[in-house]
Amino acid sequence: MKFQKRFAAFLLILTLALGVITISPQSALADATANPATAAEVFSVNCAGCHSNGGNIIRRGKNLKQKALKKYKMDSIANIANLVTNGKNIMPSYKARLSEQQIIDVSAYVLSQAESDWK
Ligand code: HEC
Repeated sequence: MKFQKRFAAFLLILTLALGVITISPQSALADATANPATAAEVFSVNCAGCHSNGGNIIRRGKNLKQKALKKYKMDSIANIANLVTNGKNIMPSYKARLSEQQIIDVSAYVLSQAESDWK
């Protein structure tokens, strides 16, 4: 019984580890052009936890909808990329986790999703 539990835990960790390897940054680095699939993937892995469907579970007003992005001057790739790179308050910094290209791609993705109201 004990062994089974340990084995189950081991399998879980292995699955998680493999998941992390599959979505490694290399895929985005290999493709220098903006790749919507990759940006969507980066978003769902790194951002959706707090910003699912363009919301913000921590500071509701600071969501990723066009109105809020305009209000807080986050309606450009440069400003979003700067925020994602350095973080702000509870929002974490991504400079150690994402490549510059990935940050630019995911920022462009946020803007394009905001344009279509995250639908
Ligand atoms: C742990 C939760 C969390 C995660 C994960 C997170 N954010 Fe945020 N995000 C926040 C919070 C909190 C704010 C508000 C920051 C502030 O101004 O105090 C914010 C603000 C923003 C804003 C500005 C919104 C506005 O209306 O001003 C953008 C754009 C944004 N995040 C994009 C992203 C992207 C892209 C990612 C993934 C790379 C991400 N966030 C990951 C919590 C998070």
